[in-house]
Amino acid sequence: MNEETPLPPPEEAERASIEPPEDSKAIRPEPGDLFERNAVDLNVLRELEGENILVAGQFSFEQVCELCKLAAMLEKLEIWPYHPLDGKIFVTAFFEASTRTRTSFESAILRLDGKVISIADGRTTGQAKGESLADIGEMFNGYADCVIMRHTDTDSTDQILQNLRIPLINAGNGSGEHPTQALADWFALLKWKPELALPPVDKSNKLNLGILGTPGSMRAVKSFLLMALLFHEHIDKVTVISEMADPFGEEVTEELRKGGIDYEVSNDVREHLPELDIIYMNSIAFLGDSYKNMDSRFKLDSSSPIKESAVILHPLARLDELDTSLDKTPHNLYFSQAHGAVFIRQALLMSVLGRLNALPQMMDLNQNPSD
Ligand code: CP
Repeated sequence: MNEETPLPPPEEAERASIEPPEDSKAIRPEPGDLFERNAVDLNVLRELEGENILVAGQFSFEQVCELCKLAAMLEKLEIWPYHPLDGKIFVTAFFEASTRTRTSFESAILRLDGKVISIADGRTTGQAKGESLADIGEMFNGYADCVIMRHTDTDSTDQILQNLRIPLINAGNGSGEHPTQALADWFALLKWKPELALPPVDKSNKLNLGILGTPGSMRAVKSFLLMALLFHEHIDKVTVISEMADPFGEEVTEELRKGGIDYEVSNDVREHLPELDIIYMNSIAFLGDSYKNMDSRFKLDSSSPIKESAVILHPLARLDELDTSLDKTPHNLYFSQAHGAVFIRQALLMSVLGRLNALPQMMDLNQNPSD
């Protein structure tokens, strides 16, 4: 019998293409800072094996932190020689437009040697002939190992899950949630401030989080805010700047109340900007059956009174609320947020598909090198 030669430890990856251009001061935090003093605990991530990923609130603090630490390793090291998703097939079923989510998922899969059946436009499926999502789900059971779905209907995840028996990853369901976007958001923030993954040492040094948008109608904003509840020990206050008097909706209000986060609603962006450490913004909402541009009077550009050390996150696509004059400033964490999505999605897919054992031994805190 042939003894397989173990692969050498992974090499450091060169990812020059996701560095900001030379004339830019945009931030691209060093991923190593997130895991080098605080190793990844893969046992926490094994809890996700076989799970559907539907909402931000299903993750524990430990799971988010360990996913982010593993993602930082995947960003730093060249893992493709270990072929972690070899033999796995993913359907990316997008019944609503996307630039980032579908392509970053597909990039994540292909770079780990998985295979993709890509449905970039739901109108090419039987849905155009009136086929139900429940029936489409029954078919996918036979064709793939995991489904990544975006849909305009908030209850689309319930519909497909009537028959789907392989893991479903919600890539955005109407005005519902976008949990893997929230993971990408917090991955960017944890790389920027790795101490967020640890209990706070100095409680006087908490962060002010500002949201320019309407969590009740914008799924990315909602999932970001719900995941923020896990980091409440690091957050002094959440200020939501929205054109709506009650921007949360019932579900988010209840979660905020339970989470014990101090929050305020305002419609005066200039009053609050100078005190915010993190600014999360979005303007596109899916309302009824089409996209709407909400909160469009809250615009930021390089002359806005933003705190010098503050960072801006935006799930993108942007309209004119986030001016391109901010792109080359140190406030720009949003391009790092978008690029990092590949690695956090890789960490999630390997966890859900049960492929963490494919990682080299030096990446597993719980594995003794002599095992
Ligand atoms: N952030 C996000 O969901 O972008 P896409 O709509 O381009 O997928």
